[in-house]
Amino acid sequence: MKFGKDFYWGGSVSANQIEGSFDVKGKGMSISDTMELSKDIDWKKIPKLTRMSTERFNSVLENPTKGYFPKRNGVNFYNKYKEDIELFSELGINVFRTSIAWTRIFPKGDESEPNEDGLKFYEDMFKELQSKGITILLTVSHFEIPTHLVKEYGGWKNRKVYEFFKIFLDVIVEKFNKYVKFWIAFNEINVAYFIPYFGSGIILDQYDKKNWNSIMYQALHYQFLATAYLVKILKVKNKECKVGAMVSYDTSYYEKCDPNDVIEQMKYDQEHNEFCLDVMIFGEYPGYTKRIFEEKNIKIDTTQEELKLLKENTCSYVSISYYSSSVISADNNLERVEGNLVSGFKNKYLKSTEWGWQIDPQGFRYALNKIWNKYKLPIFVSENGIGLHDTFTKDNKVHDNDRIYYLETHIKEMHNAIVLDGVDVIGYTMWGLMDIVAASTAEMSKRYGVIYVDQDDYGNGTQNRYRKDSFFWMKKMIEESK
Ligand code: BG6
Repeated sequence: MKFGKDFYWGGSVSANQIEGSFDVKGKGMSISDTMELSKDIDWKKIPKLTRMSTERFNSVLENPTKGYFPKRNGVNFYNKYKEDIELFSELGINVFRTSIAWTRIFPKGDESEPNEDGLKFYEDMFKELQSKGITILLTVSHFEIPTHLVKEYGGWKNRKVYEFFKIFLDVIVEKFNKYVKFWIAFNEINVAYFIPYFGSGIILDQYDKKNWNSIMYQALHYQFLATAYLVKILKVKNKECKVGAMVSYDTSYYEKCDPNDVIEQMKYDQEHNEFCLDVMIFGEYPGYTKRIFEEKNIKIDTTQEELKLLKENTCSYVSISYYSSSVISADNNLERVEGNLVSGFKNKYLKSTEWGWQIDPQGFRYALNKIWNKYKLPIFVSENGIGLHDTFTKDNKVHDNDRIYYLETHIKEMHNAIVLDGVDVIGYTMWGLMDIVAASTAEMSKRYGVIYVDQDDYGNGTQNRYRKDSFFWMKKMIEESK
């Protein structure tokens, strides 16, 4: 499979899942630092909309050291990044996606002056990447809202949080525009209405249920404005920088050709996959917003000036995370399966991962086609991969054939989309790159990386890094793809 020498191959992680050192050199606490791992908590069983309760949140803030919180330790990238980047370089990647922990730069989120130590960490890391010829794809916010902004301001539903985020953007754009080529303001911005605690720092149980949708969409509106603001300031600071619109993309199929199913799937696709892209790419709310807002009784505040900001500052590439697909039907009694942010119905033609996410490489090709045909903008795939229980052998090996199979079949379908369907895909960063703490369950044993990290769920282990079989496969695949 040839992709050409300019294609971006890389890996993707987030600050909160990889860095650790959650309280050093002035760093404040973020929402990810509140996710405890314990035998008494099964995150998978807690509804996504109310993943964090006020009771649990307050208890963590009151007793911050009671319990084990894996994302506070990550996999110690903060101290080991030079060694890790050396491995990335050996792998042959030319792009690395990570995020900036807001709380390293503004520990509480509402300060006016940044923490210089935090800025220095990222600048040093970016210089290290640059010295290896690795381009940086930066997510500004990847589930890293300061807990102070959640407690005192109620998260992104509050306009003030948007104002604080603009100050954060001003600082990092000024400092890092010369290092970072590709920008994404919010990881999977559509998470705002699937897991609002992760995406917007909102704890819904504090509000009357009839207002939940308005609260979530108001928060999302401020994030659209923040994205437009990032586009606006980068246009002035550095025209070489590109801002992408990123969503979690879940290919969906209707169950049968009953028009009721077809319409249900259309609505799902609009709301799940296209709504946020439409706003960030076309610069305005799409026509079907009327239906969604009516059906969900949503009311948001906005002004002509805000709508002008959206219209004049649109994104220049599309980015997606793609893991699985699901089936949609008007019949609610079908068997449900898990997925990244959502759960849909079972597809009898597909197998699932151990965590129940349906594996669908052709759904990936289908997604890339749909996106390209609608938006006609370059696509950067910023997440794709599989969570597996890996076995670390006595001779320090990991024979992860299932991961190789997953990556290879998805990359083949991406190749088909490019070569056969004419889709403009410019890059692919597989999710995980090295084993990190899982976002949804805070486990270490759900591993995505091609680099094994000797660390268990509770942080035991040497933290040494080892090349899995998939590492050697990926290195060869990249070399041969040029
Ligand atoms: C994406 C997130 O939704 O899915 C990542 O952007 C996350 O942060 C990835 O890690 C996989 O999910 P999980 O829960 O298996 O880590």
